[in-house]
Amino acid sequence: MANMKGRSLASLYDLTREEIEEILKKSELLKRETFQGQPHLLLKGKTLAMIFEKPSTRTRVSFEVGMWQLGGYALYLSAGDLQLGRGETIADTARVLSRYVDGIVARVFRHQTILDLIRYSRVPVINGLSDYTHPCQGLADLFTIYEKKGRLSGLKLAYVGDGNNVAHSLLYGCSKVGMDIVLGCPKGYEPHPEVVSKAKDEAKIRGSQVKVTNDPKEAIKGADVIYTDVWASMGQEKEHDQRIKIFKPYQVNGQLVKGAKEDYVFMHCLPAHRGEEVTDEVADSKHSVIFDQAENRLHTQKALLALIM
Ligand code: CP
Ligand code: NVA
Repeated sequence: MANMKGRSLASLYDLTREEIEEILKKSELLKRETFQGQPHLLLKGKTLAMIFEKPSTRTRVSFEVGMWQLGGYALYLSAGDLQLGRGETIADTARVLSRYVDGIVARVFRHQTILDLIRYSRVPVINGLSDYTHPCQGLADLFTIYEKKGRLSGLKLAYVGDGNNVAHSLLYGCSKVGMDIVLGCPKGYEPHPEVVSKAKDEAKIRGSQVKVTNDPKEAIKGADVIYTDVWASMGQEKEHDQRIKIFKPYQVNGQLVKGAKEDYVFMHCLPAHRGEEVTDEVADSKHSVIFDQAENRLHTQKALLALIM
């Protein structure tokens, strides 16, 4: 059993396959106990500071409720209301917060902010989304796929759309557990080459595949999982109108999904811009598991918190 106490989570790349499996196993247990009404006060008396530079529904609520269910307490801290907004450094903020709390979650623009928090904090820091990656989402995604398909290794995930933070987490997550991942992205909107190359190295160890194409149909072909995310992420609002035109052929709609396996599942980290990256027809179809996926943020983050705090 991997001992993860005191560990931070900047990216899924930092975890071994065994550690990911450990988190998923713990998620399964905590989810079952939650439904049985069995309390699991594993973090009694512990506190979690949650710094948000950007809005959130799922991440904020699932961490807050998760800490409560584990017997601990979570503080929501809007970055604008902290002294951070008035120029106190990230380093000093990390040093001070870690004198009060047992863990820190942060949702930030620059990934470097996460790395700085980790560097200067005495307590574990969890990346609650940065412009580079969204590891908590990746954990919930893998857990959801495992629940729906009964395995991970050997499946094919097709990600269609923007090669963004969520795409990066999937690249790391899928390659670590031996899932094939093919991304269909417009030219110029592919995932970061360094992430692709690191994922390819991981995939080589497990005999799985990592591929990036500009053809959405090719990406979807034979997929067990179809995944998409918004075309303009938080912080890219000004590019929205231009991006809509470029991304149009990458919309996940009734026509495009025809290329996938008959029993494919549709996933989206949410929030969705319905009518843009996905149509209602797909998002509300029997293939869609988007709300189970959102729920699983709670269970997988509780598992992560319990293992590292
Ligand atoms: N998927 C996700 O992280 O959602 P929020 O932005 O609502 O937290
Ligand atoms: N790519 C999206 C994910 C939101 C959960 C964003 O960064 O806005």
